Amino acid sequence: MSDSRAADEAIDWQPAQTYAGYLDLDRLLGAQHPRSGDRDEMLFIIVHQASELWLKLFLHEIGGAMQGIAADALDDALKVLARVGRVQAQLIEGWDVLATMTPAEYARLRPHLGTSSGFQSAQYRELEFRLGNKDARLAEVHRRDAGAYARLQTALREASLYDLALGLLARRGFAIPEAALARDWRAAYAPCADVEAAWLAIYRDPEKYWDLYDLAEKLVDLEDRLQQWRFRHWRTVQRIIGTKSGTGGSSGAPYLARALDLRLFPELWTLRARL
Ligand code: HEM
Repeated sequence: MSDSRAADEAIDWQPAQTYAGYLDLDRLLGAQHPRSGDRDEMLFIIVHQASELWLKLFLHEIGGAMQGIAADALDDALKVLARVGRVQAQLIEGWDVLATMTPAEYARLRPHLGTSSGFQSAQYRELEFRLGNKDARLAEVHRRDAGAYARLQTALREASLYDLALGLLARRGFAIPEAALARDWRAAYAPCADVEAAWLAIYRDPEKYWDLYDLAEKLVDLEDRLQQWRFRHWRTVQRIIGTKSGTGGSSGAPYLARALDLRLFPELWTLRARL
């Protein structure tokens, strides 16, 4: 009798399709190129790369949720939004790993980062646009990357997740003003009393409007987790670089703090004072 754990298993020892091949691991695991010779740079690179992978899934799933809402397939969208919440939890956890980096460790890498900055993350910007934080100026840093720039322009001119949710409310008979349903989607969304009244009606009678109530709370979850991510970013940056400016040229922590005042789904927050 062999003492190997695999002795009685029908394992394919020469698989035609391999794990590494399916996942393209040679490229994925060959994509870390530390420049400083400092051992802590691997942490910095991997947390960023892992975050970009989660952002990729976040964007992918948000696209699915938006399709579901637009097609009145709300159950599908709710299922996807539940997954988005878990993806966001992974993104937030990333800060705990990165926060083990001390200011001195980061200072050794900083000269090697040059002018590169998360500010130039095209996926993050596309995601913010899809979620409704439209700011055309922020796409300009991608001008020289035709593919990214085109994707950002598309995301800017298309309805956001919240715009689609308001369209759904209108189709369900709520009095959503025309100005919220057919507007220039590139412009930032302006909160309005009629939209708040519609959500308020849903919150006052959850049993009658259960799926819309569930949608509203999932949107609140999403925005809450996005704020947690932004907050952890801001605090981690304060912890690691203090009051220094960013590699992307901004004021650093003060620039990041300003994002904490943004609201994606404003009426879902204001209605809470009226319940
Ligand atoms: C030591 C770690 C980090 C530091 C010191 C840092 C610092 C900064 C600073 C100062 C900015 C403002 C723009 C600038 O002037 O560069 C910024 C923006 C940004 N960073 Fe980080 N960051 C860190 C880690 C990360 C990680 C892990 C991600 C994950 C993808 C990330 C994503 C972003 C994004 C998306 C922005 C743009 C935010 C916006 O415009 O609202 N950063 N970062």
